[in-house]
Amino acid sequence: MLYQQPIPEAYLRLPAAELHERIAAAKAELGARLTILGHHYQRDDVIRYADFTGDSLKLAQLSMSRPEADFIVFCGVHFMAEGADILARPGQQVLLPDLGAGCSMADMAGIEDVEECWAVLRELCPESTMVPMTYVNSAAALKALVGRNDGCCCTSGNADNVIGWALDRAAGDRAGCRDKLVFFPDQHLGRNTCYKLGVPLDQMVVWDPAQELGGNTEEALRRARVVLWKGHCSVHTRMTPEHVRQVREEYPGVKVIVHPECPFATVQAADLAGSTEFIIKHIKEAAPGTIWAVGTEIHLVQRLARQHPEQTIVSLDDCRCQCATMFRISPQHLAWMLEELVAGRPHNRITVDPETARWARLALDRMLELSAAPAKPAPVREAMLVPGA
Ligand code: 13P
Ligand code: SF4
Repeated sequence: MLYQQPIPEAYLRLPAAELHERIAAAKAELGARLTILGHHYQRDDVIRYADFTGDSLKLAQLSMSRPEADFIVFCGVHFMAEGADILARPGQQVLLPDLGAGCSMADMAGIEDVEECWAVLRELCPESTMVPMTYVNSAAALKALVGRNDGCCCTSGNADNVIGWALDRAAGDRAGCRDKLVFFPDQHLGRNTCYKLGVPLDQMVVWDPAQELGGNTEEALRRARVVLWKGHCSVHTRMTPEHVRQVREEYPGVKVIVHPECPFATVQAADLAGSTEFIIKHIKEAAPGTIWAVGTEIHLVQRLARQHPEQTIVSLDDCRCQCATMFRISPQHLAWMLEELVAGRPHNRITVDPETARWARLALDRMLELSAAPAKPAPVREAMLVPGA
């Protein structure tokens, strides 16, 4: 666990206008030596300083497109900065303005628990092809385990392609065991995408690290085509089918668009599901007068509402939940970080040890390659089953 030391108090007392001038001045002084990346869930008073904005996939690609920058300041969360460090050119420094900006979902898949799960499954099905996959919302150590075992990372922006690749590889059935995709750490992205790609819900099991055999029988694990780690996003799991029902009642004709980190029943009740870039693109391209209920982090929803006054845009979740860790990146922390950089004192560098980085890079490179492939068409489904998980 990383802790952010308090920044000098003077930064906390700066009036907004002065804070803005100082950030702008430090950025100008650092020029091409600095690139600031901003995830779409960042607050407005931070994202305004980003040179590039994007979802996790786009930011990973962008971080590699700026080799001339000595410093990449990542306005996002820890796993994103780790990913950028793994992809960075030698000598490039990736900095996170507040070390407390972690991700509760990534924290749900501790490496020791994951290793135990992997060892149990390998022992149960020694002959099977098992493809480990981790959502990029995970620690570098988990990405490395996946890379070491011939697996791949994915993001919500390329999950169809990458999970489709894994399901094609793990499609056999021998010695009483099905081949498997083992998906970490977000059960919802895994379930939603596998179902979309044609895997029935009864071929998926959930692995709960707090229970023996993940809470399954040996037979259920042998028969499973997909093993989903019991992790979730604290923001997106709040969105329920009841929210969808309510918003349809309140706004006749509304289109409901949600992130695939939302639970299965919510995604099934919605009209569209996709990554943050997908959500932005659909709203941008929609006809004026369209009504949208958006199931994702509140800063993005509010920004879209401001940027598209020609549409009606509301939050799907009535509590308008924000990602508390994304929110830790403040303009005060950014000002401190940039002024310290100007003074030749980089802080909060995020580094991954070379051995971990080597294997994690394999999993990330494979993902980036697969992201470029044309999307697989999804089969048409009639039935909808709601899982108990
Ligand atoms: P994307 O950026 O892939 O849409 O994921 C959303 C998210 O939860 C990032 O933490
Ligand atoms: Fe993690 Fe969810 Fe926040 Fe993304 S939105 S950083 S998945 S807690």
